Amino acid sequence: MPNKQLLSRTKPLLQTSLDYDLAHVDPTISDIIQHEALRQEITINLIASENYVSRAVLEATGSIMTNKYAEGYPGKRYYAGCSWIDQIETLAINRCKEVFGAEHANVQPHAGSQANMAAYLALLNPGDTIMGMSLSEGGHLTHGHAVNFSGKLYSVIHYGVHPETELLNYDEIERLAHQHKPKLIIAGASAYSRIIDFARFAQIAQRVGAYLLADIAHIAGLVAAKLHPDPVPYADVITSTTHKTLRGPRGAFLLSKNILAERIDRAIMPGSQGGPFMHTIAAKAVAFKLAQEPSFVTYQQHVIDNAQIMAKTFNDLGYRLVAGGTDNHLFIIDLRSKHLTGLQAQSALEKAGITVSRSTIPFDPAKPWITSGIRLGTPSITTRGMTRTEATEIAHLVDEVLSYHDNDQHLQRIKQRVEALCLKFPIY
Ligand SMILES: Cc1ncc(COP(=O)(O)O)c(C=O)c1O
Repeated sequence: MPNKQLLSRTKPLLQTSLDYDLAHVDPTISDIIQHEALRQEITINLIASENYVSRAVLEATGSIMTNKYAEGYPGKRYYAGCSWIDQIETLAINRCKEVFGAEHANVQPHAGSQANMAAYLALLNPGDTIMGMSLSEGGHLTHGHAVNFSGKLYSVIHYGVHPETELLNYDEIERLAHQHKPKLIIAGASAYSRIIDFARFAQIAQRVGAYLLADIAHIAGLVAAKLHPDPVPYADVITSTTHKTLRGPRGAFLLSKNILAERIDRAIMPGSQGGPFMHTIAAKAVAFKLAQEPSFVTYQQHVIDNAQIMAKTFNDLGYRLVAGGTDNHLFIIDLRSKHLTGLQAQSALEKAGITVSRSTIPFDPAKPWITSGIRLGTPSITTRGMTRTEATEIAHLVDEVLSYHDNDQHLQRIKQRVEALCLKFPIY
C-alpha cells in the first residue's frame, strides 16, 4: 500500500498540480461540456446502449492513470514504473473473473469492437467462415457486416429471426451451420429483446465443430446479476462492453477458458492494440466491484421491470412490439401502423427532450438510414431512480410525441413536462 507519510507530504503538491481549471485553460471545451451535462440532466435517455456511470467510475476515468504507458500485462510490461498499474489491472482482472465466474479475463480492449476483433484474431485465419446475426435483424456491425473489418476479412453467413415470431430461429441457425460449417458462431445482439439461449447455440456449435463466441455487450449487467442465462459454461470466448447495462466506463473485456487465455491475450497485445487505457481499466475495476454488491442486482431487476411495464404500456396503446415484448432492458417498436418512420420518430422525440435511437425491424422495408422502428431501453432512466410509475408516464409521453410529431408547439410543451420530470431525478 502507499507510504502514508510520503503521501501526506506530496498531497499539497499533487493537489496544486491537479487543480487545473478547464474553464480557464479551455473555456470553449469547458462550455461545451457544461452544455452536454445540462442536456443529459434535462432529457430522458432511452438509448438502450447508454447509461450514467457512478461518481466513483467517473473519478477513476478522469484520473492520472491516463498518464501511464503500460504495454504488456501485469508483471510483464515493456515500460518501467508499472507497479501501481499492475495492482490496478490485477484487481480489474480478478474482479471481472469473480463477477462472471470465468477462468480467464482480459480487461484491455478499448471498446466492444476491439474485443470482437481480438476474439476473431485469436480463433480464426483470414478467409475462415463465421456465422453471426445480421445487422438488420438485431446483430452488430462486427458480426460480419460487409462494411466492417469482420465482413472483409472473413467469409460470413448471416442468420436472423423467425419471420412470424421474430425470435431467434434456432432451427434455421442449425441448418445453416450444417450447410456452411463455420469455424465460429457468434451469439449476441444489439437489438434483440428476448432471452438468448446460449446452451442451444453451444449444442449447434458442438455439432458442427465451431467455436462459440457470446457477445454480451448489451446484456452484461443482466448476466452479472444472474437475470439472464449465463453464457460462461457454454461459450469458448465471451466479449462485452463495460458501458451499457454494466454501468462501467466506455470500454470492454474478454472472458475465456484458461486453455484459450494465451491466444486471447496475444490477440489484444501485440495482436491488435498497443498500450492499455489504464484510467479506463481503473474505472472498470470500480465497476466490477460495484457489480458484486446486492444493490446491483436490485438495479438490474428494476431495469427489466421498467422495460416490461413500458413495453406493456405501448402494447395497451396499440403499438406493435418486435417479438411481442421484452425479457431484458430493451424493446423495439414497429412504427408502420402509426405511419411514421424511425427517423421521423427519433427527431420528433428529440425535440421533446426524449432521446432514442431509430432501429430497423426484422425484414424492414425501409432503408437502414430511415428504418421502420425505434429501440427503447431503460438502463439510464433506472440509474436516475425512476421506477414503474415514471416508466409508464414516459411511455405515455412518447406516445403523445408520436401523435403530435409534426406540431412543434406541442412538442415544446411536452419538453417542459420532460424537464420537470428529469429535475426530480438528478443524475449526480
Ligand atoms: C452486441 C454488440 N457488440 C459490440 C459492440 C461494439 O461496442 P463499441 O461500440 O464499444 O465498439 C456493440 C455496441 O453497440 C454491441 O451492441
